[in-house]
Formats: sequence, structure tokens, C-alpha cells
Amino acid sequence: MSKDNHKETLHSERRAFIKTTVLGGGAAILTGIPLVSYFIAPALKKATGKWVDFGAVEDLSPGSIEMLTYEFMVKDGWLVLPQRGFVWAKSNTDHNIKVFSSTCTHLACNVIWQEETNHFLCPCHSGRFDSNGKPVAGPPTKPLATLEHKIEEDNLLVYLTL
Ligand code: FES
Repeated sequence: MSKDNHKETLHSERRAFIKTTVLGGGAAILTGIPLVSYFIAPALKKATGKWVDFGAVEDLSPGSIEMLTYEFMVKDGWLVLPQRGFVWAKSNTDHNIKVFSSTCTHLACNVIWQEETNHFLCPCHSGRFDSNGKPVAGPPTKPLATLEHKIEEDNLLVYLTL
């Protein structure tokens, strides 16, 4: 092999190596970004939430537990979907407010407040919680989650996770 042929061969091998590296790197980036976002995005999503305004705090009757409903739009990728639900607000006579999640801690059905029995009842497996959200009967072992809330300009705002 002549010296010129040897140089030409080395040059074309180097070009092939660079081409492979660039193409391989590009392919890795193109497949890696969707893969990473597929696994990371749900974890990030769980951490998000929003303050929802439930209106005038004076509308809550002291000494009662009331259902507060909500509906707002949530952007999920290209879709904008409604998110609906409700929470339970317990307003004590001293205007101390507690807000309970309506999600049963057993298998996530919605609990309903029953004034006659003074319990939150879960219709799915007859779980029961007392007026402080403590489980008292049925399969649930954990209390109802209490939700972060605040009062701003006389309105009750509750932090809901999305
Ligand atoms: S989901 Fe509530 S008791 Fe099972």
C-alpha cells in the first residue's frame, strides 16, 4: 500500500467514526429525551398542586361539616381536562377550620359525611371515620388526609394536589 493510499484510508475511517458518533449521539438524545420525560414527568406532576378558592369563610356554618365542590381545568400535555371533586370542611364554633380530603385511605373511594351517625362513610367497603377523620370501622387504617388551607381576604383557600 502506498503512503497516499494509507493516508486516504485513515482519513475515511476517521470520517466514518465521526459520522457514527454524531449519528449515534443524535439517536441517543432523540430516544433518551422521551424516555427520561416518560419516567420523570409523572414524578414531577405528583408534586404540583394549586390553591383553590372556596368562597367566603363566613358561609361555613360553625359546628358543621360541609361538602365543598370544585372544578377547574388542568392542562395535561396537549389536552385540557376538567378536574372535579369535593373536600369536607369542618368549622368549629371557635372558627377553627379543618379541611379533609374526600379520598378514603383504603382504596380511594369518596367518603360522604353522615350527620345522623356523626361519621364519614365510605360506600365501597363500609369504612367509617369519625368527625376528626380517624378510622373507626371497616378496612381503613389511616386517617383521612387533612388539606393545607388558608384564609385570604375572608375567603377559604385549599391547596389541592393535581
Ligand atoms: S375504599 Fe373506602 S373502605 Fe375501601
